[in-house]
Amino acid sequence: MDKNRIIVFDTTLRDGEQSPGCSMNTEEKIKIALQLEKLGVDVIEAGFAAASPGDFDAISRIAEQVKNSSICSLSRAIDNDIKQSGLAVSKAAKHRIHTFIATSPIHMKYKLKMNEAEVIKRAVHAVEYARTFVNDVEFSLEDAGRSEIPFMKEVMDAVISAGATTINLPDTVGYRLPYELGAMVKELADFAGDRAIISVHNHNDLGLSTANTLAAVMNGARQIEVTMNGLGERAGNSALEEAVMAIKTRKDAFGDLYTGINTAEIYPTSRLVATVTGVEPQQNKAIVGKNAFAHESGIHQDGMLKNNETYEIMRPEDVGVFKESTLILGKHSGRAAFRDKIEHLGFDKVSDEELNAAFEKFKVLADKKKDVSDDDIRMLITDESLNQDKTYELDALQISDCSSGVPTAAVAIKFQDKIMRDAAIGDGTMDAIFKTIDRLTGYNGELKDYKVTSVTEGKDALAKVTTRVSFDDESPAFVGHGLSIDTMLATAKAYLSALNSYLSQKERLSKKTSHQV
Ligand code: KIV
Ligand code: ZN
Repeated sequence: MDKNRIIVFDTTLRDGEQSPGCSMNTEEKIKIALQLEKLGVDVIEAGFAAASPGDFDAISRIAEQVKNSSICSLSRAIDNDIKQSGLAVSKAAKHRIHTFIATSPIHMKYKLKMNEAEVIKRAVHAVEYARTFVNDVEFSLEDAGRSEIPFMKEVMDAVISAGATTINLPDTVGYRLPYELGAMVKELADFAGDRAIISVHNHNDLGLSTANTLAAVMNGARQIEVTMNGLGERAGNSALEEAVMAIKTRKDAFGDLYTGINTAEIYPTSRLVATVTGVEPQQNKAIVGKNAFAHESGIHQDGMLKNNETYEIMRPEDVGVFKESTLILGKHSGRAAFRDKIEHLGFDKVSDEELNAAFEKFKVLADKKKDVSDDDIRMLITDESLNQDKTYELDALQISDCSSGVPTAAVAIKFQDKIMRDAAIGDGTMDAIFKTIDRLTGYNGELKDYKVTSVTEGKDALAKVTTRVSFDDESPAFVGHGLSIDTMLATAKAYLSALNSYLSQKERLSKKTSHQV
């Protein structure tokens, strides 16, 4: 094992998905997993297999498709959780089971109602059982940030002897200060020696997660658990982009330490995660925020013109942020120029069907806008790849004059090569659209969340609508994506996209046979 290599363990698809409003469907998770592989992530925590049949399905499909990153599933220290994880990751080229139990006095007393001996017994059994499925077992001492060091050493000794290869020390509630966390990691990394890799997993409740991750690395941690855009439970997790770029940019402080991340894929990955979840990073977010490389004041602009290094410690292109290219596409641009452009934008896995469908949408857009920007094109491609399920497709939408007080929507939908039409009134325009779609499709969606963002600037910006819609009581809400220069058209598309996603998931799960135990 290379002592200077920092293993990057990405938990966007598990802890990140636990952010409110961030649930993703299977196809979206697969897209993100493939992008994380391209980014060079060492371990992808693809979910929590026992949580639901949908989670199990997503993990096993990711396991089948990702080749270079190890695929991991989370499990409580409970046999059935571990079994589901073992089965879900079984087809992966490289796989890992991650199991955990809390070790802090407060969690043991109130949550687990277990004493120390019982916790150790359960932890050892969990690791031994996980080892019957895989050789690579990670054990987490949940709430390590508030656990007592002598007890943590006992647990570590026991689980390492039982076969754990990585020991993760989560600061579950984001409580520790960097100097404290660094000292804890040093003591436990020295204690573990060569017997296991020490990992950290820091939450951001005090805004210190990345500082804590870096303090841990400086004190012997060789795995960092991170998420793209810092997504995660409550205030989130340590952001992959921040930790990785700090290690790369501050070589003077981190010496020979390095990660295997291809940093030019950071921005494309961030955009994909933001698009899929509908959660945009704050504008001034380090590395991936809209303003991260924008220079507003005259003094700064002057400095930048003389020498970039006056105000930039990283080059935007090192993280995959490229200045708008000079090759602007318009309505006379052909398919070849369009293909060139998307390749230049880094989309190298676009199928011919996706390219053709995106090109058609580009032509429609170019008819309405003089210049189609790189961001517009990025969104067209991403939208097409996120909307592969096309059971129902919007054909046309007409909205009545809302000032009349009777908001009405007339909708035409393509279903099995037939066009169905209907109209309904609603409490507002959106309500009228959704009611008409419900009538046409026979499903009764309940809108749980609705977000609209503009993809580019200007009055002719593309509107991106993200919906979360629930269609029955048993399934989670489904995310839908719609893109159009017209917000209401984007809204109707996003609602149908959520329905398509629900239907394809339902169909897949009903076809599944024997894995559930
Ligand atoms: O925050 C936490 O403690 C976790 C563990 C399950 C690793 O997410
Ligand atoms: Zn966590």
